Amino acid sequence: MITLRHIGKTFPATRRQAAVTALDDVTLTVDRGQVMGVVGPSGSGKSTLARIVNLLERPTTGTVTVDGTELTALTSARELNRARRGIGMIFQQFNLLDSRTALANVELPLELAGVGRAERRARAGELLERVGLGDKLGSHPAQLSGGQRQRVAIARALAPRPKVLLCDEATSALDPVSTASVLDLLRTLTEELDLTTVLITHEMDVVKRACDHVTLLEAGRVVDAGALGDVVRRPHSPLATRLLPHPALPAGDQVVELTVGGDGHDAVLTELIRRYAVQVAVVAGSVETLGDQRFGRLQLRVDGAPQDVRAALDYLAQSGAAEAPADRELAGAVA
Ligand SMILES: Nc1ncnc2c1ncn2[C@@H]1O[C@H](COP(=O)(O)OP(=O)(O)OP(=O)(O)O)[C@@H](O)[C@H]1O
Ligand SMILES: [Mg+2]
Repeated sequence: MITLRHIGKTFPATRRQAAVTALDDVTLTVDRGQVMGVVGPSGSGKSTLARIVNLLERPTTGTVTVDGTELTALTSARELNRARRGIGMIFQQFNLLDSRTALANVELPLELAGVGRAERRARAGELLERVGLGDKLGSHPAQLSGGQRQRVAIARALAPRPKVLLCDEATSALDPVSTASVLDLLRTLTEELDLTTVLITHEMDVVKRACDHVTLLEAGRVVDAGALGDVVRRPHSPLATRLLPHPALPAGDQVVELTVGGDGHDAVLTELIRRYAVQVAVVAGSVETLGDQRFGRLQLRVDGAPQDVRAALDYLAQSGAAEAPADRELAGAVA
């Protein structure tokens, strides 16, 4: 649904500031129906990336394709505006008009697109209902909480029936309870309205709760990316540790670390105990819910006769689920 190829963005030097390379050779694909998290520290280029997806900002190099249309190839403002209507956007600071009611805010993009009054009203009302504000149509932004304002902004972004929703720090101004409910709403809407959603955030908790895929930006470059369930099983990848920390290693123990959860990997532990004459103790562990699946990292101490321990550890290594957090310790255990 969204394909960025070799995107570079350099802001030219000004009298006061040297040139800044905000994005450097970023290639990224978001398939239809996905919720893609883009995480990275402040200044890593996340907002620039979001603005490039709908071409509010033109990339210096590379191509942007959304829903089969290469936006970077469009030359007329009319074509570009039509393509942009397929991409909704919400922001940290909501950007609602204070003088308008919730209903009139949601109607605004439809007014601009020339949709007639009755249809506009109906669609705006239906969307506000859908985001849980059916009883707030006549409220002004000042009369709404932060979470409610963001719901109005979501309804407004969805009014032109976009296929893509870009969210730039959409929950960063909200308290934890509102954050959770707005994220759950975004997930539900993505599914129900057949959207493709990009969640820009500096918070890993946002990714854990709402995303199925994630991309890590650092200094304008993609340094890690993938489906949450895949990334978490590459224990040494930069994102794996942020999604599911490695438990602290108890001093003096000889342990092997197993990543379990998602699909099927729990079977490894069952098989280990069934097949080998070893005792298995869990000495440390951490568990996280990622999207709707639970994952854990367990540190196991495997005891028994040396040949049995060796066979059991070989089995774990071959299963792909186990990693020795410190191969030194493992070597010690089987030596
Ligand atoms: N219009 C601009 N002119 C010059 N430099 C810019 C412009 N917009 C962004 N930059 C620079 O590009 C880099 C990336 O900025 P960007 O806003 O994309 O980061 P970000 O990851 O969204 O950060 P934050 O988490 O703080 O929102 C920064 O060094 C920033 O100063
Ligand atoms: Mg930003």
